[in-house]
Amino acid sequence: MVKSTGIKKRTAIFISGNGSNMKNLVKFSKIKNAPIKVDLVISSNKKSNAIQYLKKNKIYFKIFEFKQKNKDEIKIFDILKKKKIQLICLAGFMKILSGSFIKKFSGKILNIHPSLLPKYKGLNTHERVILDKEKYSGCTVHFVNSKLDSGEIIIQKKVKINKKDNPKSLSKKILKQEHLLYPKALIKILSKT
Ligand code: GRF
Repeated sequence: MVKSTGIKKRTAIFISGNGSNMKNLVKFSKIKNAPIKVDLVISSNKKSNAIQYLKKNKIYFKIFEFKQKNKDEIKIFDILKKKKIQLICLAGFMKILSGSFIKKFSGKILNIHPSLLPKYKGLNTHERVILDKEKYSGCTVHFVNSKLDSGEIIIQKKVKINKKDNPKSLSKKILKQEHLLYPKALIKILSKT
């Protein structure tokens, strides 16, 4: 559990793709009582659509392509320390962080995954869910540990799959719910009760 001081946690968001969850978290962080403040974005993809958004919104960001994972993680750790980052939100981040990196931020790294974990860990979740003719899927926010998509679950949202759904339509439906779920998860673990 991340201790709450009532002050917004200095947060880094790690992305690889479109960054819609990141943009949503930035928007959320600007609400007066939001428990986070976005001080840094790390993108593993220099071609991410989100780069323009980050520039436009003057959000401090760095690109690390993880071609040399160890070296990049050391550099990232340095930036996290300099920026006094207290919490890391993985949001569509497609690289696997090393166990030693995760250990250094133990209990302070969150991830959002587009399935009802522990079902459908890993990639291509929507394709697999549809192939298996599941009636429901959803999304999960969880703490990150050294095993892929296996850390303690914070919160989940179930989404009904219709007969007409395909991986694309399901991904769209679930992404909409992800945008509601990530802020809820942060409130759940960070807000004082
Ligand atoms: C989301 O569905 C996320 O759960 C998954 O990849 C997608 C990324 O979306 N890991 P975005 O980059 O936040 O738009």
